[in-house]
Amino acid sequence: MAFAVNLSPLPLRSPEITIGSSGFSNSLVSFNRKRPTLSFAVSNSTEEPPTTTPEIELEFLGPKPGDDGKYPVDRAAAASGEKLLRTIMADNKIELYGTYGKVMNCGGGGSCGTCIVEVVEGKELLNERTNTELKYLKKKPESWRLACQTIVGNKENSGKVRIQRLPQWKK
Ligand code: FES
Repeated sequence: MAFAVNLSPLPLRSPEITIGSSGFSNSLVSFNRKRPTLSFAVSNSTEEPPTTTPEIELEFLGPKPGDDGKYPVDRAAAASGEKLLRTIMADNKIELYGTYGKVMNCGGGGSCGTCIVEVVEGKELLNERTNTELKYLKKKPESWRLACQTIVGNKENSGKVRIQRLPQWKK
């Protein structure tokens, strides 16, 4: 059995693409009615690429151990310096309040003192205690904060913050 193979060269055709500005000037490839036109958009922009906001990682330790004897851990992340700790916990459905605080909290107004957390790690990534905290936490450990007064990050820092929920339940 024999096969015949045609090895003659393919006919060359000139491309029907030209470089020009006719047609629609805002697109990279544009067409007019007669023939396609390839056009180029050249950017001379000196804009810098958008920078990303640093992020703070958060870990929330539960107030009571589970059946396995371990304390449950919830995790979240937030852009540095943009939110209060209370807001981050609410956004991530992480319980902040004890029984009384659930019903009687002031909604983040700084007038009830029920949104207490303990900063176990990462204190340096948070704002200083506010006057409200100095009032409500006067006789409490240094590491305790009010979540509605605590800003997570300062827009420039990043790192990890570990929070003990309801530290008053452990004392
Ligand atoms: S929610 Fe009332 S003081 Fe923080």
